[in-house]
Amino acid sequence: MKKLAVAALVLGSLSGGAYAHDAGEFFIRAGTATVRPSAGSDNVLGSLGGFKVDNNTQLGLNFTYMATENIGIELLAATPFRHKVGTGPTGDLATVHHLPPALMAQWYFGDASSKVRPYIGAGINYTTFFDNSFNDTGKAAGLTDLKLDDSWGAVGQVGLDYLIDRNWLINMSVWYMDIDTNVKFKANGVQQNVSTRLDPWAFMFAVGYRF
Ligand code: NI
Repeated sequence: MKKLAVAALVLGSLSGGAYAHDAGEFFIRAGTATVRPSAGSDNVLGSLGGFKVDNNTQLGLNFTYMATENIGIELLAATPFRHKVGTGPTGDLATVHHLPPALMAQWYFGDASSKVRPYIGAGINYTTFFDNSFNDTGKAAGLTDLKLDDSWGAVGQVGLDYLIDRNWLINMSVWYMDIDTNVKFKANGVQQNVSTRLDPWAFMFAVGYRF
């Protein structure tokens, strides 16, 4: 019994040492990133209600540098998100693309020997919209010249790393991003400017690797 306890202690300390989000460590995490807008906007063309924006999933990538065993700096990147935009009465009218890179300061709970590291983060997001176009329904309604303003906003995040071994981990994280824009377009030649919020939740399921 005593031998077993000693063996367990030795094993425990060995495996404990195998896990580390230690100062100076660098992680890359890759997985699915789903953006689910909680969209709303001013009334479109007076009678169509607010814009509706659908969900989209892309490849998410994030890079984390551990400044201490508890403080991380993370950069979020992804392949471009593509969303259909429309209104209740009209259905989809357009497709827009965006990239929402974010820079985060994070606090990791536990210490460098923990196998499970929950964390919270706060930071700033820049979202740029591009390749925006009306579909046939939009064009048939006389809509042209679609442009969306870029957005700066705050981001909040909670996440969890589960370390499999010295180099690999699995990760889940949830983000809330404050993304607001002006949707600009012409309706039969008349300039329109619709104040719109996307304010999405983003969900990421990832595998991580430590350098
Ligand atoms: Ni907002």
